[in-house]
Amino acid sequence: MTARRILVTSALPYANGHIHLGHLVEYIQTDIWVRFQKLRGNRCIYICADDTHGTAIMIRARQEGRSEDAMIADMREAHLRDFSAFDVAFDNYGSTHSEYNRQVCHEVWTSLRAAGLVIEKNVTQLFDPKAKTFLADRFVKGTCPKCQAPDQYGDNCDKCGSTYSPADLINPVSTLSGATPELRSAKHLFVEIEKLHDWLTEWTQSGLHLQDEVANYLKGHFLGEPLRDWDVSRPAPYFGFEIPDSPGDYWYVWFDAPIGYIGSTAEWCAKNGEKLDDWWRPGTAPAEIHHFIGKDITYFHTLFWPAMLKTAGLNLPERVHIHGFLTVDGEKMSKTKGTFVQASTYLKHLDPSWLRYYYATKLGSRLDDLDLNLEEFATKVNSDLVGKVVNLASRTARFVEAVGLSSTYPDDGGLFREAAAQADSIAAAYEGCDFNGAMRQIMALADRANKYVDEQAPWTLRKDPARAADVQNACTVTLNLFRQIAVYLAPVLPRLATQASQLLQQPITRWEDSQTPLVGTSVTRFEHLMKRVELAQVQAMIEDGKQTAPETTAEAAAVPSTPWNDGPEQIAAEPLVAEHCTIDDFVKVDLRVARVVAANEVVGADKLLQLTLSLGGEGTRNVFAGIKSAYKPEDLVGRLVILCANLAPRKMKFGISEGMVLAAGAGGKEIFLLNPDSGAKPGHRVH
Ligand code: MSP
Ligand code: ZN
Repeated sequence: MTARRILVTSALPYANGHIHLGHLVEYIQTDIWVRFQKLRGNRCIYICADDTHGTAIMIRARQEGRSEDAMIADMREAHLRDFSAFDVAFDNYGSTHSEYNRQVCHEVWTSLRAAGLVIEKNVTQLFDPKAKTFLADRFVKGTCPKCQAPDQYGDNCDKCGSTYSPADLINPVSTLSGATPELRSAKHLFVEIEKLHDWLTEWTQSGLHLQDEVANYLKGHFLGEPLRDWDVSRPAPYFGFEIPDSPGDYWYVWFDAPIGYIGSTAEWCAKNGEKLDDWWRPGTAPAEIHHFIGKDITYFHTLFWPAMLKTAGLNLPERVHIHGFLTVDGEKMSKTKGTFVQASTYLKHLDPSWLRYYYATKLGSRLDDLDLNLEEFATKVNSDLVGKVVNLASRTARFVEAVGLSSTYPDDGGLFREAAAQADSIAAAYEGCDFNGAMRQIMALADRANKYVDEQAPWTLRKDPARAADVQNACTVTLNLFRQIAVYLAPVLPRLATQASQLLQQPITRWEDSQTPLVGTSVTRFEHLMKRVELAQVQAMIEDGKQTAPETTAEAAAVPSTPWNDGPEQIAAEPLVAEHCTIDDFVKVDLRVARVVAANEVVGADKLLQLTLSLGGEGTRNVFAGIKSAYKPEDLVGRLVILCANLAPRKMKFGISEGMVLAAGAGGKEIFLLNPDSGAKPGHRVH
């Protein structure tokens, strides 16, 4: 059998948010499949990159007063740290903002032009006059034109479910700046993918490249009518690549993102002395391309992307593997419930191998959503991994530390041979992404091995010195069954495979290592292989998750996207302030020195104190200030503070607050007011 050449990708994570447990479904799924292919002896490379372009990154950089380059560099580091902690091992991790990618974008663009697929049309869109940018649908909120529900996003209404254009919203507001958007028209470039309709029908419906559910979805939703032109440009300002033959226009993020698969491969080729064409151009020994993605980005990968590849004469994916979405305890991940857990938060509390195994047991070849049930998580890890697998070694290795394994393989009633014969069936399950099926087969083998060791009970035999050979034989069988299972589990649990390699002094490098038992080798000192999960650890992680929920990706995951114009842009859940405070704005703020004349606790408020402030001759103000953690009320009386005196009065639960006290410091015990010896007098203006 000749080794296959396989190029595998996961979707490129957005550079505007951290990796969370939802993302990890995909990266762990792909990594398992890649490790499986490598273990089988296939030539396989795993390619990924950060997806860096788009409005959200640009706005966020502006808001934070940094360059986009600095922002994406930081996020890249964080992403790589998380991935490597979960043993997700890319062969190359590039960036869509690289010269490699720009180069491939040019080539694909030239092909689209040459094929006569690019046309110009004017697009009228909402424009934010303050942030000076066109607004993707999700950056506009307003009142639903159908049912009058307030606070609805620009493309559809949560309340009545109707869809509309953001220009139809009543009282639209830009979530970037709070400004009222205005309609403006600009030239956009479109790709007429309708011209590839017949070919796309053939490719998607061939039964070769897509799951049946996906093929049917495309047929039912898109292919039954003419395909709409795809808007692939955005006018400046936009963070991306400028279109060479259309100055002032930029490729839309979803144009250059999938091309990033090729850009990142080009980088890998440059580092490894390989030829890009050997992977991405059809040839005599074509490479197999496999994309792994989530169901939310299906049409980009099954319609636009194949159309682009086809036009550019590049290799089409052999298969696009699409998975469902992660829910936690049966519900959508939620910031308030703490279930929007970041990868880095998980790592503070739990072992990454546990999640890899748990996801493997949940992943099948279909698109169903998968649920992270926290109790089931603990039970599966404890009963399967600790109770059935690791236990095989922990109950036997110590007894043969001194003597090693028997020099000939003992009679085990056919256990090893039968389990070896299952290699093909387990491999078929991995190959077909039926990881759940693979795990069930492997755990059934572990059950049989446990039955064997229970019956042999080497811990009892040991008491009889005359039966030393029987002890050694029983342990030799058990440790070989353990190692065989570790080989089968190696794609999921690479660390366990390494530990088994060390324990039995024989590296696990190939799937065939499951076929022959080890004999006569020494056995090293047994080290603890894996701990049990305590439910308290899981709960602590969820608590922690409430503090550190990602602020940008939460809603992105929930957003049903409209593919044809403003698809899932990089969505910011929180309103972002894009503007600077001008000197004109600043002089409006009236800052005054004030003296605390009375200070009181507020019943029912943890952080607030109620202050009565004197501004000298100008009367007193009632202000609620969140400084209770640092000051006792009695210590404040007589102190000077700086007050924002012309803040609009705010009605709070406890009364009306007529201004705001300014303070410096990190919070908690560190909240600093004006220095008592400053010489300032109540009523003084702060300039
Ligand atoms: N940047 C785009 C992909 C461009 S590919 C050329 C994107 N990024 S993402 O960060 O939002 O998502 C990356 C991958 O993670 C996607 O395949 C997405 O489906 C997957 N997931 C994100 N949240 C998820 C869950 N809650 N559950 C399962 N997969 C999830 O989309
Ligand atoms: Zn409505």
